[in-house]
Amino acid sequence: MPLPYRVLAVHQDTLDVVTLDLEPVGAAIPEPKPGQFTMLYAFGVGEAPISVSGAPVNGAPLVHTVRGVGAVSNAITRLHPGQELGVRGPYGTAWPVEEADSHDILFVAGGLGLAPLRPAVRHVLANRDRYGRVSLLYGTRGPEDMLYREELTEWRRMLDVEIEVTVDHADRTWRGAVGVVTNLIPRAGFDPAHTTAMVCGPEVMMRFSIMGLQGAGLPFDRTYLSLERSMKCGMGLCGRCQFGADFVCKEGAVMRYDRIAHIFTVREI
Ligand SMILES: Cc1cc2nc3c(=O)[nH]c(=O)nc-3n(C[C@H](O)[C@H](O)[C@H](O)COP(=O)(O)OP(=O)(O)OC[C@H]3O[C@@H](n4cnc5c(N)ncnc54)[C@H](O)[C@@H]3O)c2cc1C
Ligand code: FES
Repeated sequence: MPLPYRVLAVHQDTLDVVTLDLEPVGAAIPEPKPGQFTMLYAFGVGEAPISVSGAPVNGAPLVHTVRGVGAVSNAITRLHPGQELGVRGPYGTAWPVEEADSHDILFVAGGLGLAPLRPAVRHVLANRDRYGRVSLLYGTRGPEDMLYREELTEWRRMLDVEIEVTVDHADRTWRGAVGVVTNLIPRAGFDPAHTTAMVCGPEVMMRFSIMGLQGAGLPFDRTYLSLERSMKCGMGLCGRCQFGADFVCKEGAVMRYDRIAHIFTVREI
């Protein structure tokens, strides 16, 4: 059952993307692991799976970043502080932040894909001494589509983290890299023998990222993706999210690439 949550704050990230800070009205959902998602219920409209983009730890709110694309997501992006929505979960698998202990970490994010990765980035940075080299490669369509600008700037200020940002199309104000995010992979200095990669973004971007990572020598069993499929129940009951033999809501959304490589590039699946 969805639990009622109240909107504490709404941050307009881009024209069609907002980040909502939520607090429980009564009981709270269990603490989500980095990479897990919840089902958000816009009362009277319906539910949508949305990744947790900030975990409610140490008194922080539960955070979700949502792009309005249809009935449910638009209703969620129109919420104001004080209004309520339903939250159930958390569901799905997590980014391998524990398994990757002592590894170099490479995050590759495209567009809204930075939202599901943010809790993993925060976890790695909060436990910085447990990991080797840490790099984040982030690509968006234009400078105006960039999420979490202030936090990206903070991360950039850290001396032991490499943050590279690129845009597909620059405007006059942009002084950074131009081109797709996969162009950054050969430039990111990482040792493929000791690196775990976590990749999230549009499917085409993830396909090219896999090719780039493979070209750089990163094995499939240390490459993780977060998949998106239509969902209804979020808990392995309805079959709506089937991907080959798996249900993405149960065996994903975060999946190790060697387990799905045989079907990931099959268009019909
Ligand atoms: C595990 C998971 C995590 C997600 N995390 C986020 C997130 O953090 N932020 C966010 O904004 N969205 C996220 N999504 C996508 C979000 O769930 C959909 O955009 C939402 O369900 C659309 O519902 P709707 O009723 O608003 O639109 P609909 O009317 O259902 O759809 C509008 C349009 O979006 C397309 N669409 C619907 N669902 C998806 C999908 N899952 N993937 C690609 N296209 C879709 C439809 O084909 C249609 O063209 C996630 C999806 C999954 C499965
Ligand atoms: S959403 Fe129902 S089985 Fe996955």
